[in-house]
Amino acid sequence: MKFKTKIKQTKYQNELKTLAQAKLANNSQLRSKLKTDEVILKAAELLSQNQLVALPTETVYGLAANALAPKAVSKIFAAKGRPQDNPLIVHIADQAQLKELTAAKITAKTQALMDHFWPGPLTIIFPKSKKVPNLTSAGLETIAIRMPAHPLILAVIESSGLPLAAPSANTSGFPSPTQAEHVYHDLKGKIPLILDGGPCQVGVESTVVDLRSAQVKVLRPGGISRQEIADFLGEEVLLAAELKDDTAVAPGMKYRHYAPNKKLYTFNFEDKLFILKKALKKAESKKIAIISARNSKLDNYQLPTKNLKVLKVFSHQKPAELAQKLFALMRSLDADPEVEEIYIEELAAQGIGEAVMNRIQKAAAAEEYSQPGGGDN
Ligand code: TXA
Ligand code: MG
Repeated sequence: MKFKTKIKQTKYQNELKTLAQAKLANNSQLRSKLKTDEVILKAAELLSQNQLVALPTETVYGLAANALAPKAVSKIFAAKGRPQDNPLIVHIADQAQLKELTAAKITAKTQALMDHFWPGPLTIIFPKSKKVPNLTSAGLETIAIRMPAHPLILAVIESSGLPLAAPSANTSGFPSPTQAEHVYHDLKGKIPLILDGGPCQVGVESTVVDLRSAQVKVLRPGGISRQEIADFLGEEVLLAAELKDDTAVAPGMKYRHYAPNKKLYTFNFEDKLFILKKALKKAESKKIAIISARNSKLDNYQLPTKNLKVLKVFSHQKPAELAQKLFALMRSLDADPEVEEIYIEELAAQGIGEAVMNRIQKAAAAEEYSQPGGGDN
C-alpha cells in the first residue's frame, strides 16, 4: 500500500523542548494532557487498526505496530526491509503490561533494574508468553521489552492500550533516525504517520541486557552504560560480543548496521595513525570529511587546504555528545556532495563511549557484511 506520509507535532512541542526527557516522561500532568492531543489520538487509532506509526523515543525514532498482531508486525519487516530472523523490542508504559507479555515470575534482580532504569534506554530479555506472536520474537522463546523515556510514545501506548513493537524507524542497515526528517527520508510513502518530537536526546539505541543466567550480559551496548548497570547491581556485567559464544549476542548484531553509503574509516593517534595519514594524502584527489574531537591532536598536523572538511563536534570527556549527534552526522555527510569518504576519530569505549564505538565500528565494517543494504537496525 502507498501512503501520503504525514509528519505531525503535538500541541506540546515547546514543553518537550524545555525539560530533560527523563523528567518529562515521569511528568504525569503532561502525560495526561498529551493523551487528549489530537495527534496522539490519531496515532493510537492507526495502531489499533494494525497500521504503522513512527514515534520518537529518547534513543532513536521507532517504527511502531501492535506487538500482539502478526498482521501489524509483518508490516514493520516489509517497510524496513528487515530480515525476519531479527526480533523486535516491545515498548510498554506501565510494568503491569509485563504480565501478558512474559511467561515466568520476575526475579528480584530484574525488578530492581526495572525500578531503577525505567523509563529509560534499557531493554531486558524475558521468557515470552504464548500471547506474543512468533513474528514479534522472530521465533525465539524470549521477548525483549523496554519502557522508553519519551512522553510521546508513552502517551501513545497509554491511549492505544497496546504494547508496541518498534525497531528503529530506518531502512534496514542504514543509520538509525534521530529526527523526524530522517524517518521521512527512509520511509516516505510506506507509512501513514510520523510523530515529530524533535531530535532524540540519547542518540544511540537502548542497551539490551540478558539476566537469565547467573552472569549478567549486555547483548548490545547502548544508552545505559555497562558500568552503570554493574555499579547498580554490584557485580560484573559482561559484553556478549567478547564471549566466545556467538549465540549469546543479540540476533540483529550479525547484520550490516548503522552504515552510510559512503566508506567510513576510524583512526586514532596511536595504532591507527596511519589511517589518518592516508586520509590526508588521499585528500589530494578525493573529498574527505573528518569527524574529530574539539580537543583533538589533529591540530598538530599539517592539514590540506582543499578537499577536506573537518567537523570538530565532540569532546573526549563527554562521549554522550557524540552519541547524540552520530547518526545525524552520518546521514548529513552521506548526502553531502562535497564528501566522498568519512573518517572518525576514535574515542575510549567507556561509559556510553562503548555504545558509540560499537556503532562506529559496525558502520566502518559494513562492507564486510554480505547483506546488501539488509540487516538489523
Ligand atoms: O532504543 C532502542 O532500542 C530502539 C528504540 C526504537 O526503542 N529500538 C531498536 O530496535 O533499536 P532494533 O530492532 O533496531 O534493535 C533491537 C535489537 C536487535 O539487535 C535485536 O536482535 C535485539 O534487540 N533483540 C530483540 N529481541 C531479542 C531477544 N529476544 N533476544 C535477544 N536479542 C533481541
Ligand atoms: Mg535498529
